[in-house]
Amino acid sequence: MKKNRAGIFGTGFYLPDEKLTNFDLEKMVDTSDEWIVERTGIHERRIAGKTMATSDMAFNAAKMALEDAGITPDELDLIIVATISSDRIIPSTACMLQNMLGAAHAAAFDLTAACSGFIYASSVAAQFIESGVYKKILVIGAETLSRFINWQDRNTCVIFGDGAGAAVYGAVDGEYGILGFDLGADGAGGDYLDIPAGGSRCPASIETVENKLHYLRMNGREVFRFSVKIFGETILKSLEKADLQKKDIDWLVPHQANIRIIKTGAKRLAVPMEKIIVNLDKYGNTSAASVPIALAEAAHNKVFKKGDILALVGFGAGLTWASCIMKWSREE
Ligand code: ACO
Repeated sequence: MKKNRAGIFGTGFYLPDEKLTNFDLEKMVDTSDEWIVERTGIHERRIAGKTMATSDMAFNAAKMALEDAGITPDELDLIIVATISSDRIIPSTACMLQNMLGAAHAAAFDLTAACSGFIYASSVAAQFIESGVYKKILVIGAETLSRFINWQDRNTCVIFGDGAGAAVYGAVDGEYGILGFDLGADGAGGDYLDIPAGGSRCPASIETVENKLHYLRMNGREVFRFSVKIFGETILKSLEKADLQKKDIDWLVPHQANIRIIKTGAKRLAVPMEKIIVNLDKYGNTSAASVPIALAEAAHNKVFKKGDILALVGFGAGLTWASCIMKWSREE
């Protein structure tokens, strides 16, 4: 008898209403709509309002996913929130969300793997589901990166946006669900994308604030080089674990970092653009939220059919990368 696997029962996503366009950014830093579109593919991104934090967006995405899955919060066994922009250092965003949802029976923790976070968290959820330890797990990617962006730094401020995506995982017949995954890290590249201060190495002080050390810094060229290389490599590893090949991919759901990274990565896998879920033009790079927002938006637009093979891929700070192959198990 085939073992159960972890499949998606429901998805949800949330984007704040406020749009920040490339034309708005032209008034803030030395950049142009033309440069941003040509170099990244991004036209606009969403920015969370002053009173909104990561847990609020996670809550909205979670409610939509739970409703979509037809389950109540008290049925949840575990909540994992992938984020690098938690409301506070402690407690975790997952614990705040557990309280907001009233998910009284759920354990809860955050997972830090930047843009790979949702796929890392999904692979953790898959272990609990496949072993039979837990039945229903809520996995979220949620970010309010706008609070960690130096709005005078054109290298970073044109790229990132805020949002949240969610998926409820449960056991499905072994033919479906997560068939294979690949996770990886290269800590030697940690300095390419970091927030230097505010942790135990460099606690907050007047000097750290004055020197803008609480903002995200990025060596774009190095992250770009790493991303295009790892994109195809990790998907090929996941395909091998799933006993499938490149030609079997029906839908590619990539981290929405940069259209040039997506096009280069997809070319190596021979996946045509019409099979790739892209929404970075509207939302920018929402780090851990990007893959689940793309997945949930496409699922709610009824893009996937039962039996479709999806390849999810993420890569980012850490450096980290993650991919998984999923056979879509929902009927519609
Ligand atoms: N507007 C205008 N010019 C700019 C801007 C801007 N916003 N940003 C940089 N430039 C300039 C640079 O100063 C440089 O000028 P120079 O040649 O005179 O020095 C020139 O444009 C080219 O700069 P590059 O950095 O080489 O530009 P590139 O084509 O690499 O694009 C980008 C930059 C978009 C950041 C790209 O490197 C990229 O997408 N990197 C990957 C980022 C990423 O994927 N991150 C994912 C992880 S996110 C996470 O984990 C949280």
